[in-house]
Amino acid sequence: MVEKNEYYAVEFIDMTHDGMGVCKIDGFPVFVANALKGETAEIKIVKVNSSFAFGRLIEIKDKSPYRKEPICDHFSECGGCNLMHMDYQMQLNFKKYRTKQTLRKLGKIETSVKDAVGMLNPYYYRNKAVIPFGEENGKMIAGLYRKRSHDIIDMKRCYIMPKVTSDIVKFMKNVFEELNIPAYNETIGVGVIRHLIIRNSHKFDDISVTIVTLTPKLPKKEIIVKKLTSRYNRVVSVVHNFNPDNTNVILGKKSKVLFGEDFIRDEINGVQFKISHRSFYQVNPAQTEEMYKKALEYADLTNNEVIIDAYCGIGTIGLSAAKYARVVLGVDVVKSAIADAAENAAFNNIKNAKFVAGKAEDVIQQWRNYDVDVLFVDPPRKGCDRSFLETVVAMDIPKIVYISCNVSTLARDLNFLQSQGYEVLEATPFDMFPQTSHIEVVTKIRKKKQG
Ligand SMILES: C[S@@+](CC[C@H](N)C(=O)[O-])C[C@H]1O[C@@H](n2cnc3c(N)ncnc32)[C@H](O)[C@@H]1O
Repeated sequence: MVEKNEYYAVEFIDMTHDGMGVCKIDGFPVFVANALKGETAEIKIVKVNSSFAFGRLIEIKDKSPYRKEPICDHFSECGGCNLMHMDYQMQLNFKKYRTKQTLRKLGKIETSVKDAVGMLNPYYYRNKAVIPFGEENGKMIAGLYRKRSHDIIDMKRCYIMPKVTSDIVKFMKNVFEELNIPAYNETIGVGVIRHLIIRNSHKFDDISVTIVTLTPKLPKKEIIVKKLTSRYNRVVSVVHNFNPDNTNVILGKKSKVLFGEDFIRDEINGVQFKISHRSFYQVNPAQTEEMYKKALEYADLTNNEVIIDAYCGIGTIGLSAAKYARVVLGVDVVKSAIADAAENAAFNNIKNAKFVAGKAEDVIQQWRNYDVDVLFVDPPRKGCDRSFLETVVAMDIPKIVYISCNVSTLARDLNFLQSQGYEVLEATPFDMFPQTSHIEVVTKIRKKKQG
């Protein structure tokens, strides 16, 4: 019987999907943050549920050879980089193992899972930062959320964002303080500044800054813009977004461009993209290039195919594939992303791509009678809508390349496709989010030949 507040000597035999060490006390599973497989330690039990418990690491007795000192001062309080105590090669091995296990256990998929593709420098990669603002003891603070809470940690520096992003956060905090513009207090629902969203281009110098406020007006906006753009001449776009709601959703419905235009430019595999402040864009562009090369290899295009890019965002996959295909059809639910996709096609002189705004599960009905050769699908974390997949099956699309940022929903969707006559030939995890337990996987799927 595992008792709360008691101390135990344990050995870690596995890791959870979110990087906690797993040990067993009299057969009862206990999860402990920051513990690594293979280590022995003394732990204290902090919570007991009916079928598992949580413990806290008190002292490591035998350290794993893969343990690494986290370089970030905020590691123990933040929780964003929950694998930073793991050597990078172990992180990659962990992601390959989790992919294989999840596909097997949840999806009943037996396939070849390749080594996870990692980065040469697995830091400073994240091109988008969403920074909450708050107040502590009368001082403005900004940065990261404390683990499992909405308390804000005043960030010194974040090692997965570019250095300039951390600098802009500090600079803007000083500007708001100097101008007496208070942060939003979510407990009592007053104040002004809720979030800053900072986006950096990988191939160009462009940076965009979106200031989200509780109030319809951003006080002293001309001064703020002047200070920001004269200090950082890489800032080409400043947008004010107004979000009056008591919600966890970051952006409100109304935005106004305060400086420049509402986009930054970037380039992936030779195709240029305009990215407006509302549109989804992959957060690790260097890895995105590699991942799209793999997606194109899996699609094996011959310049003659009709392809669908479902959940297309600003069209990054479809436009990367356009020169190897006959026709590209893209769909995304966000209208501004579709407007960006159409503009991106024109900007790159791509004439064989058409983008439609709407839900993938609805829009695919318009294409039901087309002879589609390849489907690229890249849904949000919740995976594909079942009715979307049913239509894909009814259309008898022979090749599917599924890109997923959530291996559990991937396993569920692949299990359905497998039950409908498809087979998963190969999966390659890409490390889009080094230092964190998030996994991105590209899978090659084919309709089985009948008879
Ligand atoms: C993981 S992102 C992929 C975007 C794009 N393929 C890329 O790589 O940049 C998922 C996209 O799905 C879109 N989305 C979410 N639900 C949708 C739905 N029901 N139908 C169509 N698009 C949807 C989001 O707007 C977002 O752009």
